[in-house]
Amino acid sequence: MQRLATGSEEFDRVLGGGLVEGSVVLIGGDPGIGKSTLLLQALAHLSTGHDVLYVSGEESAAQIALRARRLGVDGARLPLMAEIELERIVAAIEERRPAVTVIDSIQTLYSSQLQSAPGSVGQVRECAAQLTRLSKQLGLAVVMIGHVTKEGTLAGPRVLEHIVDTVLYFEGDTHSSFRLVRAFKNRFGAVNELGVFAMTDRGLRGVSNPSALFLSQHDRQVAGSCVLVTQEGTRPLLVEVQALVDNAQGGHPRRLSVGLEQNRLAMLLAVLHRHAGVACFDQDVFINAVGGVRINEPAADLAVILAIVSSLRNRPLPRGFAVFGEVGLAGEIRPAPRGQERLRESLKLGFSRLLIPKANAPKRPLEGIEAIALDRLDEALDAAWG
Ligand code: TYD
Ligand code: MG
Repeated sequence: MQRLATGSEEFDRVLGGGLVEGSVVLIGGDPGIGKSTLLLQALAHLSTGHDVLYVSGEESAAQIALRARRLGVDGARLPLMAEIELERIVAAIEERRPAVTVIDSIQTLYSSQLQSAPGSVGQVRECAAQLTRLSKQLGLAVVMIGHVTKEGTLAGPRVLEHIVDTVLYFEGDTHSSFRLVRAFKNRFGAVNELGVFAMTDRGLRGVSNPSALFLSQHDRQVAGSCVLVTQEGTRPLLVEVQALVDNAQGGHPRRLSVGLEQNRLAMLLAVLHRHAGVACFDQDVFINAVGGVRINEPAADLAVILAIVSSLRNRPLPRGFAVFGEVGLAGEIRPAPRGQERLRESLKLGFSRLLIPKANAPKRPLEGIEAIALDRLDEALDAAWG
């Protein structure tokens, strides 16, 4: 399997080590998040060694060339095609045989064989299916950009996920300049792999040490904050989990979660009460993962619980302290995958006191790390402030 380097280490990483020859990639995200920018930069790099084609149904060739210039890439050398009719695009690909074609965006295309309007589910499906067939027939890579539509997800990229090889989504905080790209599905790499970028005035730049982004800078330790060592794809990442626990006004206490699973929060509060005797039934509980990263793994449980207890008791956790581990319904702490890598990443960022699942205890002591390995939630609460 041949892989083509996109010129961006972070983009290569989410793809599983570069763009696989002849593969079909779907990349989705909100309007304005940076999809066109990322692909234009990647294609410009790829064009130095391969034939490429950038098809835009959104902007004119002149507009794209202008943007290319802003990105510092040679727009004149980049083959651009402003077109929305599928049949003409297919003909161009058949004739030129570009190793990589970018379609910006799949929602702007229409097939003259269908009656329905561009952007409708039928059109989006048909155009994507034909481009996929063509890619497989000729062994040429196609990257399709898709807008995530706010309410009408129907005609959004979701309907295409099953026909393509790789699905990437932009996620994260649109208010900051950081952009996260996550592998949602990948036949050629790890799922959940995360690429981290910063949007600059000259396009997207990879961020090589992303953990720093997801930790807020506190002068001193604050209550309601716990550092989680998470694993996103093949990369360990330190993320600060914050909790705010406050007296509920009225009958229904609120449970709100940003970046972490909402249903899991309710479950963890029940486990915390039943197995550690800490009650939050008259408290509002808010939790947040700093930096807009979305965390899907259960190994975040321990950090969520410790942040909640820290806020409730108004007692900060010690400096240099980080955790990982899943918490089960029986109050047990379950192991997380790749424990050793998580420990090494923590050490790199100056976290030396780790509360971890017993089953993840290092066989030999790791230099510079004090690992507290436990298998019960109540013991963990005692040990955290012990
Ligand atoms: P764009 O790639 O056009 O988003 P999408 O294709 O996902 O809709 O990115 C648009 C935003 O990025 C726009 O608000 C301007 C900003 N931007 C920069 O900050 N620097 C740049 O070099 C470029 C090209 C865009
Ligand atoms: Mg765009």
